[in-house]
Amino acid sequence: MSKDLLYEINQDQFREGFNKYTRKAFQMLPELDKPRILDIGCGSGVPTIELARLSDGEIIAIDIDQSLLDILDRKIEEEGFQNRIKTMKCSLFEIDFPNESFDIIWAEGSISIIGFEKGLKEWNRLLKIGGFLVVHDDAKNLSNKLKKIPICDYKLVNYFLLPEDAWWTEYYEPLENRIKKLRDKYRYDPEALELLKKYQDEIDTFKRNPQDYGSVFYIMQKLKPETNKI
Ligand SMILES: C[S@@+](CC[C@H](N)C(=O)[O-])C[C@H]1O[C@@H](n2cnc3c(N)ncnc32)[C@H](O)[C@@H]1O
Repeated sequence: MSKDLLYEINQDQFREGFNKYTRKAFQMLPELDKPRILDIGCGSGVPTIELARLSDGEIIAIDIDQSLLDILDRKIEEEGFQNRIKTMKCSLFEIDFPNESFDIIWAEGSISIIGFEKGLKEWNRLLKIGGFLVVHDDAKNLSNKLKKIPICDYKLVNYFLLPEDAWWTEYYEPLENRIKKLRDKYRYDPEALELLKKYQDEIDTFKRNPQDYGSVFYIMQKLKPETNKI
């Protein structure tokens, strides 16, 4: 049941509403020919697939959760991106590529796992000089985070906040409507109702503190260490 129900909830459909911001951030980069991209904490790959559509590059998509990578692998096959996207089960605490392997590192919703400053520092070595780090993170401590960017040897190319109501209108409101319908459909199935309750709990947490759900895209460029130049 669980798998069918997850398929019916289809959260990714709502997550795709945020692709317009992924596109906006990508368009802030200069044109790059066949960039090598590392997507850190790719999950089921909504931004990963969008990056493959936006660029002509190769993408390595890493996540700790194999069940999410399996979903992404199915999407890669459906979209015909087998030659351009590789998934890899790997913790973001143990990324093991050589120095200067990537033109772009993309991290949506994952830098908070390691911490903003630590992520910027540890991922720096993976980028070529002049390469780009794009992070989508919560909006807490924005001014403090902006100050960390030059300290960690990046130039801030640009940043933007998502509209205040984006998380409600794009994601939680349509998700809640779907959960309501499914609660009715599965009203005699306690296992399904328990799973649906978890989703409703997450929505209720959002409703109690919507101001905590602001989020920001940072577009940064790696500088040569110590010279503060590209
Ligand atoms: C908020 S989700 C973001 C997923 C995707 N980037 C997106 O924007 O839709 C965070 C992801 O980080 C992954 N994650 C959590 N801990 C991790 C770790 N130690 N190493 C790698 N990925 C991790 C989770 O499995 C999850 O897929």
